[in-house]
Amino acid sequence: MNNIIVAIDGPAGSGKSTIAKIIAKKFNFTYIDTGAMYRMITLYLLENNIDFDDLKEIEKILNTVNLDMQGDKFYLNNIDVTTKIREKRINENVSKVASIKIVRSNLVDLQRKVSNNKNVILDGRDVGTVIFPNAQVKIFLIASSEERARRRYNEFLEKKTEITYEEVLKSIKERDHIDSTRDESPFVKANDAIELDSTNLTIDDVVNFISKEIEKVK
Ligand code: CDP
Repeated sequence: MNNIIVAIDGPAGSGKSTIAKIIAKKFNFTYIDTGAMYRMITLYLLENNIDFDDLKEIEKILNTVNLDMQGDKFYLNNIDVTTKIREKRINENVSKVASIKIVRSNLVDLQRKVSNNKNVILDGRDVGTVIFPNAQVKIFLIASSEERARRRYNEFLEKKTEITYEEVLKSIKERDHIDSTRDESPFVKANDAIELDSTNLTIDDVVNFISKEIEKVK
């Protein structure tokens, strides 16, 4: 039997990672958070003062840096960066880093490699269009920008980050814009993806919908 690939693409705050984690557990699939990989590279570049234009240096780093995911934890060169990669400064810079061609090609290779020979659910921006155009289930998960900002703002409140709702809204709109207008694999819906608007849906609603789609291909 072929391995099953479930692709969940969507903008910030659409609920991708929450849903993907639940589905992964329910079906015993491996969950791969592709955005976390872009976040880890962004963190490395910021912490080492590497200019986003310095492609030579970035290429060197891509070939030497070690990105690892274990359960809910993310390790950059064996250091736990799970909390750091969700900080405001990463949100503000990650879309710029994710527009760099060599960063994308390197991470797409890694994403395919870690998915090999497994049933997987991946979330990101280009899973159904670029990483796995042949994925058996493709969901394009959206929600209004106000609802997405509200969800992100609540996450920041829980972490006691000083930020206003307006700042969060502005930041996700900026990221949406950069992600969907970049030259390299822009964030677009795959032709064969099912669009699901989660603005007025509960987590359970979304999980049930996607579960039914997975049952169809199992
Ligand atoms: O959780 P949230 O949607 O805020 O972001 P994420 O999935 O962690 O992705 C962070 C950023 O990485 C996105 O805004 C994109 O710029 C980039 N990204 C990408 O270009 N391609 C992916 N497959 C995943 C993320």
